[in-house]
Amino acid sequence: MTIPSIEPERIPKMSRKFVLRVLKWYRPQTVRLLIAVFFILLAVAFTVAQPLILRDVVDRATAGGDFSQLAIAAALLVLLPVLSSGLNVAQNRILGTASASVTFNLRNAVYIHLQHLPYRMYVHAPPGEINARLSGDVQQTTNIIQRAFPEGLTSLLRLAGTLAVMFSLEWRLSLAAMLAVPLLGWVARKRNYAARKMAINAMQANAALGLQVAETTQPNGILSVRLFNRLQHEIERYLLLNRQVRDLEVAQNNLSANIIVLTSGIAAIGTALVYAVGGLLVLGNAFSIGTVIAFVAYLSGLYAALQILSSLPQGTAMALVGYQRIFELLDLETENLGPMRSDLPARAHGELRFENVTFQFNDEVPLRETARPWSVRLMGQSAQPSLTDNAANALENISFSLNPGQMLAIVGPSGAGKSTIFNLIPRLYDPDQGKIALDGQDLRDLPLEWLRQQISLVSQGIYIAPGTLGDNLRYARPEATDAELRSALEAANLAEWVESLPHGLETFLGQAGARLSGGERQRLAIARALLKNTPILLLDEATSHLDSINESLLQDALFRVRRERATLVIAHRLSTVHDADEILVLERGKIIERGVHKSLLAHSGLYARLYEKQFISNEKD
Ligand SMILES: Nc1ncnc2c1ncn2[C@@H]1O[C@H](COP(=O)(O)OP(=O)(O)O)[C@@H](O)[C@H]1O
Ligand SMILES: [Mg+2]
Repeated sequence: MTIPSIEPERIPKMSRKFVLRVLKWYRPQTVRLLIAVFFILLAVAFTVAQPLILRDVVDRATAGGDFSQLAIAAALLVLLPVLSSGLNVAQNRILGTASASVTFNLRNAVYIHLQHLPYRMYVHAPPGEINARLSGDVQQTTNIIQRAFPEGLTSLLRLAGTLAVMFSLEWRLSLAAMLAVPLLGWVARKRNYAARKMAINAMQANAALGLQVAETTQPNGILSVRLFNRLQHEIERYLLLNRQVRDLEVAQNNLSANIIVLTSGIAAIGTALVYAVGGLLVLGNAFSIGTVIAFVAYLSGLYAALQILSSLPQGTAMALVGYQRIFELLDLETENLGPMRSDLPARAHGELRFENVTFQFNDEVPLRETARPWSVRLMGQSAQPSLTDNAANALENISFSLNPGQMLAIVGPSGAGKSTIFNLIPRLYDPDQGKIALDGQDLRDLPLEWLRQQISLVSQGIYIAPGTLGDNLRYARPEATDAELRSALEAANLAEWVESLPHGLETFLGQAGARLSGGERQRLAIARALLKNTPILLLDEATSHLDSINESLLQDALFRVRRERATLVIAHRLSTVHDADEILVLERGKIIERGVHKSLLAHSGLYARLYEKQFISNEKD
């Protein structure tokens, strides 16, 4: 298989700013890190001391010397490894805690940031990307504290200590040993490049695999798989991705195995050199056999340290890629929460005004894709097209106003921009030109949370959380009493249905409310909106899934609540809006007709044509 090449910009540039930003996450762990450094120092000292003791033992034994001293040296040889592994355990535990604390803080920061990002981010971000950053990338970063820090520090100290002792013992032997070092460095460079490339690809492949599982195991996803008979296709797609993951795993493993053979070979050559030079020197009585044995012991430590040092940059680079991707997310601009204000009443009056509002979607993709393009590329397709391929305004010069107790209806062909108007009211998007005001104040001068507290929106895509019926209702207002729940259910014409359920409000609604009918779902959403009891009520084709009897029952209920609030409805069925105080007819983002039902009919424009068409089809029913 071929490994797709990584984009160079994915490998983080080690700018000062970036490094400092990474380090910031470790500052709260300073004490733990210092304790770990202390343990590492002790452990390295014990390790470096061992060959010296070994040398002593050997030289005394070969010289037939003092047995009590020999016993002490032998005891130390047992004790030191035990002590240093004890220190290792302690250091591991401390760093484990530090690492968990860092990821804990990272995850929190990312999630809090996610909750403050504008809505459009979620519409435009590549699927799976957010989750990949919250889980996968945060996990990647643990490499720094769990491996790079302890192993890097240990190896560096060990290298320094070992070299110091070696040169002080015998400089000629040390030089012989060092001959192999440049070779090791060269191998490490080669390996790191290949390994990093593979690791990034493995990360992408895993993300693509996870994304497919997520897509095809949610109710709506599996439904289209089943109904379009794409089962085999999905299985093959998964197989392809899964094979890629496996091949990358094998390749990664082979690479490390090959490297071990190579570096062991180089280390063996170095060791042989030491034996050869050492043997000659011993023969020349330059020093003891003990020194040669100690040297060989140091050598294996030296090469082990070098091997570890050479493998660390790879994991560290992966961790830094993780940080880079997390920072990318943390750098996305958050929603403007508006000013703090204490002069506002808890409940707005409910006078809404649009003044020459013009709005255009921009199609920036906020987070670069990692998961998607890979799978797409595999399927031989190009990158995803943007949502808006022309630069036309989604809304142009929209003006209207309505007061509490009034109802405004928006009608028009699909794609005209009706839902977009609704999205501007709770400031899911802001207009590019013009102004929207609530009770005479520009929405941008109002605290966002307060504004949204004044609005109930029943959107076309109704979200039902995994939980019970009661949970879903109370999401709108956790403190609602049972009586309030009941009256909302009654108004939405759902009370009887709820009573008929064996578990009533405790009924579990399944994943994404998949066990609800379209009409039940809409009525639940309306009940939820009514429970919130706001001065502004927005209904986006909220009764489109109901039969005409249920619809007219709901119309009656909505008629009753209209007195206390400003109501905006988007309606497909024109029969539901003929009593509106004003009807806007929207086409391609512009208001092309406006007025009350009668005058619009008399005008015999688009509204009249739509109305006639529906009237005739209703007659046929
Ligand atoms: N987030 C978005 N980015 C780009 N274009 C969008 C986005 N949401 C909607 N649109 C486009 O804006 C137009 C109006 O959409 P909408 O307001 O949902 O229409 P409708 O009148 O059917 O409710 C459509 O052409 C739609 O494709
Ligand atoms: Mg719509």
